[in-house]
Amino acid sequence: MKPCRILVLGGDGVGPEVIAQALRVARWVAQRSARPLEFIEAPYGLSAFQTLGEILPARTLAAAREADAILFGAIGGDYAGVPVAQRREGSVLRFRREFELFANLRPVRHWPALAGSCPLRAEVAGGTDIALVRENTSGLYFGQPRGISELPGGGREAVNTLRYTTEEIERVARFAFELARGRGRRVCSVDKSNVLEAGALWRQTVTALHERDYRDVALSHMLVDNCAMQLVRAPTQFDVIVTDNMFGDILSDGAGAIAGSLGMLPSASLGAVAADGSRRALYEPVHGSAPDIEGRGIANPLGAILSLALALRYTLRDEALATRVERAVEQALQAGARTADIAAPGEPVLGTVAMGDAVLAALEAG
Ligand code: IPM
Ligand code: MG
Repeated sequence: MKPCRILVLGGDGVGPEVIAQALRVARWVAQRSARPLEFIEAPYGLSAFQTLGEILPARTLAAAREADAILFGAIGGDYAGVPVAQRREGSVLRFRREFELFANLRPVRHWPALAGSCPLRAEVAGGTDIALVRENTSGLYFGQPRGISELPGGGREAVNTLRYTTEEIERVARFAFELARGRGRRVCSVDKSNVLEAGALWRQTVTALHERDYRDVALSHMLVDNCAMQLVRAPTQFDVIVTDNMFGDILSDGAGAIAGSLGMLPSASLGAVAADGSRRALYEPVHGSAPDIEGRGIANPLGAILSLALALRYTLRDEALATRVERAVEQALQAGARTADIAAPGEPVLGTVAMGDAVLAALEAG
């Protein structure tokens, strides 16, 4: 059987620390996978720039193109000495765009074991299980024209463009509807159609697609400002949320509070499904490089480990192994394992490696 090859890019900040723990779990998983599973590490980020002169060395990019998926740590830090063009070429946005990873899935759930450290009361957030789907390759992040220019009369002007085509809206909405069919059969589409043309087209397109192909799924619409409020007021009302690139970025950080910490959130950036069932994919924890705690061994590796679980689900397509890893995270939390970001006052705190130990112990215990 052709092995499943996952390229591992630790990147910057706490990225390599959390990815190291995900790799320990990956080794455990690889011994139990029906399909051979290989993890290949490659230089990327500031450390690659310092040693090889490039953030994204050509051979790392080539390996990314060949791989079945990418497991990504984080990028970001002191990039003052790096030319702007290089910075852009090496950013995670480049991967999203170049590999057309148009659907960004950010599952958000409430962990009963973390009720004590969750800023939302258990009566409000308990039972929350949201699949937040963010459009990932268009909108305000990529629209042209963009830039900062001098104004003739003095001062400067900054421009970004919010542009969406029906095709871009449709493919991410289709992803959300398909996902909903495998769970609660409800999609809430979030836009700003009362003000923005891109929002109006978003709503019309999602509605038309729903009527055409997904009448078995319940569709609702919500304005993004209201959604921000509903996510903290009554998060259990949501099943699948689908929204544009910028709104998805903002709402997913907000929703992170439901999980107790941004350190708990995994993500999958997915491309279209090819004829053989495979799809391009990049998996990364949502928390980013967190330079303030870099190198201190205190970062929460669970977002990275849960991102690995998503890779097992969507790339390896081994639901049993994916669930096994997710369950091990839950068991570690139930057993009281806490990194600093998810510890309630007075609870003992583990470092990054010890949290990895706790997850491995739960896996071994079965
Ligand atoms: C995220 C991050 C990225 C984004 C940054 C690091 C470019 O905030 O994945 O949510 O804005 O998409
Ligand atoms: Mg973000």
